[in-house]
Amino acid sequence: MTASQAPTVRVLDDAAAAVPLLLAELHRVVGAGTRPVVSFATGGTYSGFLRALGRQLQSGELPATAFVATHLDEYEGFAPERRGGMVHELCSLCPPFAAMLARDAFVPVPNAGDAAQLVAHEQRLQRAGGVALQFLGIGRNGHIAFNEPGTAFELGCHTTELAATTREDARARFAPDEPPRRAITSGIATILAARRLVLCAFGANKAAAVRAMLHGPIAPTCPASALRRHGDVFILLDRAAAAELERSAPGSA
Ligand code: PGA
Repeated sequence: MTASQAPTVRVLDDAAAAVPLLLAELHRVVGAGTRPVVSFATGGTYSGFLRALGRQLQSGELPATAFVATHLDEYEGFAPERRGGMVHELCSLCPPFAAMLARDAFVPVPNAGDAAQLVAHEQRLQRAGGVALQFLGIGRNGHIAFNEPGTAFELGCHTTELAATTREDARARFAPDEPPRRAITSGIATILAARRLVLCAFGANKAAAVRAMLHGPIAPTCPASALRRHGDVFILLDRAAAAELERSAPGSA
């Protein structure tokens, strides 16, 4: 499969400059569709956006009834109310998500389950119309969601072992406890099925992964390189994350 269009890359002065652009992405898809499914990402990259979204949902500037929310991944055994988990993080940063969860307008990634339950989760999203807009971060090892290097691009939602760097990066989040070893994650195939992908990467520790994503081989050694097989990808970087890109990169701004 070859993407008809290379990812569009925009380099911003800083991470804060991404927030209005991410809100605009969300407003655009909500304005265009009938209650579209929007899949959110977690991690420090998205905390400013999620707080701003919470304010808009609380004020009614964006109606919480206008979209169905879901997200990329969850640590194994982390029920929604458990600190450190992804649903807990999303509801802490964006409190209106808790009410959406209670009325089934927020579809959580299962925190356990056999393959059939994970397939059922994906089918539920498909029945809701499929993911119209997928927000993504990237790990310093090139992972997207918890698709660690070596993961086959063909996988859908699955249970996985976390890479050593991923666990290290999550250590502060779980201290004084050890970070989890396993998670349930959307697969690369799940992510590529979304109609529009918006990936953010900020900070110098993402620069090598960003370069591999855009200029390295399209291969499981860099899971994010799979995005180049999708025809509608928007990538927002700060200057530090963009530092290793070639000036002539296709689609660069
Ligand atoms: P971060 O995580 O936003 O905390 O950097 C991103 C990721 O690992 O996908």
